[in-house]
Amino acid sequence: NKDAVILAIETSCDETSVAVVRDGKHILSNVISSQIEVHKQFGGVVPEIASRKHVEVITLMIEQAVTESGLTLKDISAVAVTQGPGLVGALLVGIVAAKSLAMALDVPFIGTHHIAGHIYANQLVHELEYPCMALVVSGGHTELVLLESEGSFRMIGRTRDDAVGEAYDKVARALKFPYPGGPHIDRLASEAEKVIELPRAWLEPDSYDFSFSGLKSAVLAVINQTNMKGETLNAAALARGFQESVIEVLVEKALRAVRAFGAKQLLLCGGVAANRGLRAALAARCDKEGMPLLVPPHKLCTDNAAMIGAAAYLKWQQGEFTSLDMKAEPNFSL
Ligand code: KG4
Ligand code: ZN
Repeated sequence: NKDAVILAIETSCDETSVAVVRDGKHILSNVISSQIEVHKQFGGVVPEIASRKHVEVITLMIEQAVTESGLTLKDISAVAVTQGPGLVGALLVGIVAAKSLAMALDVPFIGTHHIAGHIYANQLVHELEYPCMALVVSGGHTELVLLESEGSFRMIGRTRDDAVGEAYDKVARALKFPYPGGPHIDRLASEAEKVIELPRAWLEPDSYDFSFSGLKSAVLAVINQTNMKGETLNAAALARGFQESVIEVLVEKALRAVRAFGAKQLLLCGGVAANRGLRAALAARCDKEGMPLLVPPHKLCTDNAAMIGAAAYLKWQQGEFTSLDMKAEPNFSL
């Protein structure tokens, strides 16, 4: 039985990424072209520009990923791509490229869920044990997902409004930081000597859902009031208050979910997993409760194609291939 060498493509947002992954585990290459510099001047991702930038670099990224893998196109066993969720125009660029390649090479084509990718990024560096619980935190997602067995996803909680990363970016913007603002707020919070207390959105007592727009509004209200009174804002104390509120809710709900569903591991995934405050708080809490915490290295937390290759491998093993008339699913559910 020959190895599965999957070429994976990810273009759901503002990163054009192509990877070659062997057996869902070994990253032979994982090239990423970020558009952040282009979108920065607009304060966020502009969908139309994102699509155009993907078109400009996708062919080059495919060539580069194959070259860096040390293999040739003849060695590719399947082509995988992010089907959704994401920006429809951005997704389409990756999908058209992936379909064309699968057709030209005459190999199976595998459409993959972006969140399954973020979750299975953990598989590239750790061994998963089921059932496990994933806390997915990114610019577009805030979800608690239960994996009862390999490849089975059950969404048990999600944000009802803003995603965590989105709230970070909006708060950062109000404090005049460039996009993406998450890392700036993280750093500022760690430097704070005081804390401006902000509310926590627990929602209903038994709910695993999240809400961050009220917290974001509370931050904006503090900024406005300070300006109106002509006082100087303690931005660090505000960043700290915001971060503490976010982290407390994420940690409490994640650990409650882990216990309620008998999970053996907690997986942290998505771009916000880079947050030092969140990692430290989760690590401390998991340590105290004897719960193994899995976090991929930073490059595998943010959008990348290796995670798509890892998730696609599950389908490859089941012989679950996708028809070439597959469509982009901007609001794809797990
Ligand atoms: O997973 P990702 O690269 O893209 C999406 O699929 O959304 O996540 C990007 C998000 C941005 O909102 C960014 O501000 C946030 O992750 N982020 C952070 C940190 N690093 C990145 N948020 C808080 N603290 C950080 N250190
Ligand atoms: Zn993502």
